[in-house]
Amino acid sequence: MKHQALIQRLTLAEKATLMAGKSVWETRDFPEKGIPSIFLSDGPHGIRKQEGEGDHLGLNASVPATCFPTAATLANSWNPDLLEEVGQALGTEASSLGVHMVLGPGLNIKRNPLCGRNFEYYSEDSYQAGKLAAAMIRGLQSQGVAATPKHFAANSQELRRMASDSIVDERTLREIYLTGFEIAVKEGQPKALMSAYNKINGTYANEDRRLLRDILRDEWGFDGIVVSDWGGSNDHALGVENGSHLEMPGTVFVGQKEIIDAVADGRLSEAILDERVDELLTVVLDLAAQEKRIVDYELQHEIAHRAAAESIVLLKNEDHILPLDSQKTVAIIGEFAQNPRYQGAGSSLINPKKLDLTLDHLSDYNLNVLGFAQGYQRVDKEDDVLLQEAVDVAREAETILYYMGLDEISESEGMDRSHLSLPQNQLKLLEALKALGKDIVVVLSAGSVVDLSWDTEVKGLVHAYLSGEAGALAILDVLTGKTNPSGKLSETYPLDLSDVPSSYEFPASGDYALYREGLYVGYRYFDTTATPVKYPFGYGLSYTTFVYSNLILTDLGAELTVTNTGQLAGAEVVQLYVGKHSRAIFGPSKELKGFKKVYLEPGQSIQVQFTFDDYTFRYFNTITDSFEIEGGVYQIAIGASVADIRLSGEVMRSGTTEQLPDYSQLSSYQSGQVNLVSDVEFSNLLGRTIPKESWKVGQELRINDPVLKLQYAKNGLARLVYKILSWLLGRAEKKGKPDLNLLFIYNMPFRAIAKMTGGMIDHPMVEGILTMINGHFFRGSRQVWKAFLQKNQYKKDLDA
Ligand code: BGC
Repeated sequence: MKHQALIQRLTLAEKATLMAGKSVWETRDFPEKGIPSIFLSDGPHGIRKQEGEGDHLGLNASVPATCFPTAATLANSWNPDLLEEVGQALGTEASSLGVHMVLGPGLNIKRNPLCGRNFEYYSEDSYQAGKLAAAMIRGLQSQGVAATPKHFAANSQELRRMASDSIVDERTLREIYLTGFEIAVKEGQPKALMSAYNKINGTYANEDRRLLRDILRDEWGFDGIVVSDWGGSNDHALGVENGSHLEMPGTVFVGQKEIIDAVADGRLSEAILDERVDELLTVVLDLAAQEKRIVDYELQHEIAHRAAAESIVLLKNEDHILPLDSQKTVAIIGEFAQNPRYQGAGSSLINPKKLDLTLDHLSDYNLNVLGFAQGYQRVDKEDDVLLQEAVDVAREAETILYYMGLDEISESEGMDRSHLSLPQNQLKLLEALKALGKDIVVVLSAGSVVDLSWDTEVKGLVHAYLSGEAGALAILDVLTGKTNPSGKLSETYPLDLSDVPSSYEFPASGDYALYREGLYVGYRYFDTTATPVKYPFGYGLSYTTFVYSNLILTDLGAELTVTNTGQLAGAEVVQLYVGKHSRAIFGPSKELKGFKKVYLEPGQSIQVQFTFDDYTFRYFNTITDSFEIEGGVYQIAIGASVADIRLSGEVMRSGTTEQLPDYSQLSSYQSGQVNLVSDVEFSNLLGRTIPKESWKVGQELRINDPVLKLQYAKNGLARLVYKILSWLLGRAEKKGKPDLNLLFIYNMPFRAIAKMTGGMIDHPMVEGILTMINGHFFRGSRQVWKAFLQKNQYKKDLDA
């Protein structure tokens, strides 16, 4: 142990106390023993430092900070160097604000387009997500602060996010849901990592020894600390035993008591507690000793601007409508042009330092703007006056620049979407604009996949995603040609939501989320089954053209030439995919195994090199319990998207094991047709029976059921609480502003009451409350009272 002497000077109570926060955002300190406190803040695309009373999901505004583009946006740059630079900027700002640990990046896999937090995540592909996260982590940590990649792992829906069990087969878990974290840990070396709220195959992620010790530490070499997601710790002592370090937010002495009790009754050995304390102190002491950086906010804004510009995706450019012709008159239409939607809602919400607005800067651009009209209300509500005004303005112009997107309530932490459509009022206006017969260019702001079936009606489509505080001008740069767009999609845009195999039940509404589709997430499904899509993974246009030539394949890698054959300088994202036609081990037709972004002047040619690495040919073998290579011929495909393969060739690989899993009973997985996987076949893939929902309406509620189940409570008062909660949520929805704290409570299990009330209520009290909810009012009240007295006595003893 590194800090043996120090740990020997700590009492059991002090050690237990260190394993949980001091407040919502701080760790415990013992200044007299030389142990400082460190400050933790969200998050992934800007520093959300709450000063004063912290309230987790942000009723109290945070200190103004630079709002960078969200992860979903940055991912479209496909540029690790850019992510490293943004990470560095975030790190500097965190350090300058006295934040030691930044709670990000988020790199969960976008299993389904409806997940409310997709805007905070990078990709539907684990290799891309891992490489980008690693770059972000390196950048952040270069400034003396810790990154905290999250949420580890298989955390793919918001509904019941703390009370959901992801049922996923071992191979899929390893290849799809863990590989991103593996790359992030090995190549980014984060000092911390946040465990997910959910269970994975029956075990809470925060208590999963195999995940937190065997895989994370022993296999990947992680040497940082594991932080629970806020309120996500279930059995704290079990968590500590199995590799979790810090329970957040602070529970005053509730978490501490759990540890002390567990040591007393032998459930947790003090030696293991010492080990965790030692690991925690290593990180805390190191972070607290770092020098504060100085931040230059002008530079931060400039980086945010550049990052946004490089991440914008040009999806459609019929008749070269873009860049806009400065000779032609333009009408700017849409609420989003005056009030940009530039970030998502939830724990990542930044109070921006400076916000660029489109309408304030039009004169800086060579644009012939005739007028502006709001056109629609931000919240989806019909407004014929606004619509008519917009049509009148648009009628006078030659080109209509229409800003559309998802509003705040459509896309938020704590809430999954129920459809992919844009608000109806915006679509109605599009119809009205189309009737004018003018050229329409749409600028879209949304952090995740939306239905784009309407794009046949427009000539240009620029997808800005959620581009941060400087996004408005980055968009104008692209529209006017100051920036040549180079972003490409990091997720597939399906023709219809029902084409996505996980849509059979997303979000899962019961205890179990069944990952029946296995490996076939995102393009892995669409490409394997040749299912047509609206826009494929990796797709994005440029104002110039690129030609790929001269592919040379060796045992070590691939090399090719890319030439800019157009008139403008531009950047291209070259993608390397690997597939195997004849195989014993089923798998997607091809998978991303490399990407490079290159910048070329007109006429310039560049050599692009890829080196095969540990990830290129591997699959997870459930017999040998390790990654192996299947012997044989592999197809190497180089493309401008997964669906636009420009060059291909073959290489040979020898196999690494004779022991192959038996996949004969898995015909859907062999073909990739996983939209209708039967229970029998899914349980064959799992290697065990599928857990069945056991709770039925009329039964008593359980400690790990979410609060939303109060609607079925036996106690009338509890049902009334549910009604009030639903009413408040409905009211927030009507206002168009998600209420994060309410959403949190709605999806939170009863046990979390003990973790989120700052020591006011402990676990035995929650059990009493539950007894009351279940219709045993007097028995429950007695239980609560008794537990309350015991808790107070404990507190008194502690103080004494
Ligand atoms: C979110 C985390 C976040 C934490 C602290 C949780 O509800 O899931 O991503 O870091 O709150 O705000």
